[in-house]
Amino acid sequence: MQFPGSHILSIQQFERADVERIFAVADAMAPYAQREKVTRVLDGAILGSMFFEPSTRTRVSFGSAFNLLGGEVRETTGFENSAIAKGESLYDTARVLSGYSDVIAMRHPAEGSVAEFAAASRVPVINGGDGSNEHPSQALLDLYTIRSEIATRGRGLEQLRIAMVGDLRYGRTVHSLCKLLRLFQGVQVVLVSPEALRMPGEIVEDLRATGHEVLESDQLEASIAHVDIVYSTRIQEERFSSQEEADLYRGRFRLNQNIYTHHCEPNTVIMHPLPRDSRENARELDDDLNDNPNLAIFRQTDNGMLVRMALFALILDVVDQVDRHARAVSWYTGGRF
Ligand code: NCD
Repeated sequence: MQFPGSHILSIQQFERADVERIFAVADAMAPYAQREKVTRVLDGAILGSMFFEPSTRTRVSFGSAFNLLGGEVRETTGFENSAIAKGESLYDTARVLSGYSDVIAMRHPAEGSVAEFAAASRVPVINGGDGSNEHPSQALLDLYTIRSEIATRGRGLEQLRIAMVGDLRYGRTVHSLCKLLRLFQGVQVVLVSPEALRMPGEIVEDLRATGHEVLESDQLEASIAHVDIVYSTRIQEERFSSQEEADLYRGRFRLNQNIYTHHCEPNTVIMHPLPRDSRENARELDDDLNDNPNLAIFRQTDNGMLVRMALFALILDVVDQVDRHARAVSWYTGGRF
């Protein structure tokens, strides 16, 4: 694809070469994300950050990634702080906001809303999550993390074995990740969920049609026994009609150190898009895994910065200029990385 000026709305717009390109640019962003160097390549550029659903890491990391490239961020969070609460259409909001920004990152509870907004926008729009549909930048950072984690374990993306666990019906991160895995060869996907929260049928069919093996199960222990990655997810309570309904499924699949030790192969990588639900009745990833070196959840969040910086650099067509605008960091940076 042509990155400059493009919207990033769905994983389906990428081919394998595009993903490789994003990852190569993300690799080159590491010295900036790790505060070895500073670049001002996006000096004067503005990111419009519009999050109409709760978000911590996606919102802040999009903003910080833009800042790390030297740009400024303008934020709107929640409907109540936006003219959408006064009845303004997505079309009008897009026409207005795109006059104030060079690129927009947006999250919205309705499926397809970010694409609708993008159609009216005068600047590129990145989908930060549209309802239970897609979350493409998360899938990219997840795959970037998978790639680096399994490389150190002598495995590659071809013939990857991955278990996705939890709310596969409403979880947009696993929808996008499955679509991304289709681009590779011979992936084995084990989908572990309650019957009512199974992965949408068309996503499963698409994986099978592209030659991948998909198993569906509602048993955690057996399903995580022979995989490279366990990708756990939160019950997406905000998509249920009531808390009581979400409570039926919360805490159903809990991974803790004891289960890990007894059922997983040594060095199985544990991932989660976060937030993990750490309340007593949920705990899909127990805190007792925190000292397990295979817990990659905070490497995922760190990698999110690299991938989002790469998307901005590609969309705004400054990849080749990043280093020309660089200088050394002048403040204390010890201990963090
Ligand atoms: C996810 C999301 O918003 O889809 N969070 C994230 O962006 N990392 C997952 C979730 O909320 O459970």
